[in-house]
Order: sequence, then structure tokens, then C-alpha cells
Amino acid sequence: MGDAVLRGSRSDVVEGVTVERRAPLETGPEAVLKADGMILGTTENFGYMSGALKDFFDRIYYPCLEQTQGLPYAMFIKAGNDGTGAMSSIRRIVSGLSWREVQAPVLCVGKPDGSLLEECENLGLTLAAGLEAGVF
Ligand SMILES: Cc1cc2nc3c(=O)[nH]c(=O)nc-3n(C[C@H](O)[C@H](O)[C@H](O)COP(=O)(O)O)c2cc1C
Repeated sequence: MGDAVLRGSRSDVVEGVTVERRAPLETGPEAVLKADGMILGTTENFGYMSGALKDFFDRIYYPCLEQTQGLPYAMFIKAGNDGTGAMSSIRRIVSGLSWREVQAPVLCVGKPDGSLLEECENLGLTLAAGLEAGVF
């Protein structure tokens, strides 16, 4: 799913947007502060986002709180049988940060098929194209 999101966001039809893929454990406030948009990806574990993504939020929350309000973001979630707990846990934190959800989440329950991967690609493309066009 991450590969498909990245492929969409780096589509040839979008010029002038630089996309960085980063692991949450290796991403800190400095990367968020220089980003014009974010796409968050996680598995659902125990009805919550992954521990790695939670660790990311723990470290960036206060350093980014003042300066990233309104940041456009979207998310994609991979779950075994649900996914809503991961989604709501992310929304709770980003609503505290006042980030703006600019695309509906992509939720995959079970194995991702071709159309799901196409949704992921479209998510990446739409976010990148929207940032380029200045619509977000
Ligand atoms: C420790 C652990 C907890 C999990 N908890 C949930 C859960 O609460 N809800 C859910 O839908 N899937 C849960 N899963 C399934 C994962 O979301 C799933 O393993 C992940 O999406 C990767 O998919 P795959 O195992 O098919 O590669 C859990 C998996 C693990 C290892």
C-alpha cells in the first residue's frame, strides 16, 4: 500500500512537488515542520495505530503544535478485520494538532487487491496534485 501511495504521489503529471517516504521511528519534528502535507500509513494493532506511529506523534506533538495547524493530511490503514480503531486514534491526535484531513482515508481489511491499490495510488496522486495546484 505504501508503494502504491508513493507511486501516485510521484506521478509524472505532478511536477514541482518533492515527496519523501519516511519510517515513523526515523521521523522527527524537523521533517514535519518543513512538510506542506502528510500522508500517514499504519496497520491496526490492538484497535489502535501502530506503536511506531504513536511514538512519532509522541515526539512531534508539542514541537509541531503551534506551527503546523491546518497542515493537509490523509491516511491509509491496513487492518486484519476492522481498522476503525486505528482511524479514530489518528483522528483524535491530529484534531489536537489541528491538521486538516483533505482526502477520505483508504482502509484495507484483509489482503489488498488491485482496486484497493489503485485507491492508494489515487490518494498519493490527489494529495500531491492538490498541493501543486494550491487547493489545500
Ligand atoms: C499484535 C497485533 C495486533 C493486531 N490487532 C488488530 C486489530 O486490533 N484489528 C485488526 O483489524 N487487525 C489487527 N491485527 C492485524 C494487523 O492489522 C495485520 O497483521 C496487518 O494489517 C498486516 O496484515 P498481514 O498480516 O495480512 O500482512 C493485529 C496484528 C497484530 C500482529
